[in-house]
Amino acid sequence: MRFSINIDHIATLRNARADVQPDPITAALLAEQAGVDGIVVHLREDRRHINDRDVRILREVITTKLDLEMAATDEIVKIACETVPDLATIVPEKRQELTTEGGIDVIDNFTLLHDAIADLHKYKIPVSLFIEPIQEQIESAIELKADYIEIHTGHFANAASEEQMFEELEKVRQATKYAKRFGLGVNAGHGLNYSNIKIFRELEDIDEVSIGHAVIARAVFVGLQQAIRDMLTLLKK
Ligand code: PXP
Repeated sequence: MRFSINIDHIATLRNARADVQPDPITAALLAEQAGVDGIVVHLREDRRHINDRDVRILREVITTKLDLEMAATDEIVKIACETVPDLATIVPEKRQELTTEGGIDVIDNFTLLHDAIADLHKYKIPVSLFIEPIQEQIESAIELKADYIEIHTGHFANAASEEQMFEELEKVRQATKYAKRFGLGVNAGHGLNYSNIKIFRELEDIDEVSIGHAVIARAVFVGLQQAIRDMLTLLKK
């Protein structure tokens, strides 16, 4: 199971003072040195954390993989086509939300996604759709010729009881199995942390986890590279 780090919250901290520190580019390079498999950033419509310049520079300097999280809007699709990330992960986006609140409804947004995926594929950008672990959603992702799905793990991470957590884990397992049968790559993320990853890592067929908040929060106390090494240790056990 590979590990990509989402560095949005380094930029959140920087923007809190409209300053240049802490610099997300430095964070990405340090993260690569510590052993992550990729860097994830979400260029939001409101640019509340990562900005256009961050994306441009990251594209130039990182040596692992750049996963650009994005809404399927004309503006952001155009930026993605200019930047050519290693993966474009399409997420739903609402202005008022604190963070992405769930997977995109592939069935409701079929035409919008069809057009965005076609544009991104023209530039040979593989596309991932951030979705709930539901078979109909995966079927639509296959129909749309998505290359990957990223399964929303928020319900697993926020489960109110152990029983519910294992139920949610099983949904992710089944969704992974189904998607893999059709040749889709499978990533996962949202709410994964140093505690629940010990259970989540059982799902060995998942290609990659995308983790942000928990690692950046720990980094405040132990440093970014130590926080990353701690997560890598758990993932490899
Ligand atoms: N994957 C997606 C699609 C996300 O939107 C986020 C949150 O930005 C993450 C993964 C990482 O979630 P967290 O910050 O809770 O680890």
